Amino acid sequence: MRKYTPITGELHDYIVRQRSGANDPVLDALRAETMKFGDVSEMAISQQQCDFLTFLVAAIGARHAAEVGTFTGSSSISIARGLPRGGRLVCFDRDDKWTSVAARYWKQAGVDEKIELRLGDASRLLRAFKPEAPLDFVFIDGKQGWV
Ligand SMILES: C[S@@+](CC[C@H](N)C(=O)[O-])C[C@H]1O[C@@H](n2cnc3c(N)ncnc32)[C@H](O)[C@@H]1O
Repeated sequence: MRKYTPITGELHDYIVRQRSGANDPVLDALRAETMKFGDVSEMAISQQQCDFLTFLVAAIGARHAAEVGTFTGSSSISIARGLPRGGRLVCFDRDDKWTSVAARYWKQAGVDEKIELRLGDASRLLRAFKPEAPLDFVFIDGKQGWV
């Protein structure tokens, strides 16, 4: 006897629409702008992954976080939302074209004061990275190229 519900494309879309936090004008606008870049937009994490990151960061009480691979900002906004006031997220990415989009949306989401961007090759920058406090949460989503 089957004891699980198979996820079809239709059921997946329904769950995504019905989940708590589904109405998110900032992330919706960011997703729409990111999609204008074409196939590369698939690098952004999904809406459900955004919600999960926010939940996870808040649930573990993280204050200090880092991210490698920021792109247009979906994951960084989600992590920063889970941090308390005064929390800190350091983002590493080498591409100003993407991160300039992220920076605009950090402001719109009201999380810009929690985020610091370090622009350049993360494999070099991380060697010199001295966090102001031990990191509670690290999200690594950097890729050498998109395929
Ligand atoms: C999969 S995307 C990140 C998606 C992002 N987390 C989001 O939620 O939208 C990968 C990112 O890693 C960056 N990246 C790849 N290799 C890198 C490197 N060596 N140093 C810094 N950034 C790098 C790319 O510029 C790209 O923005």
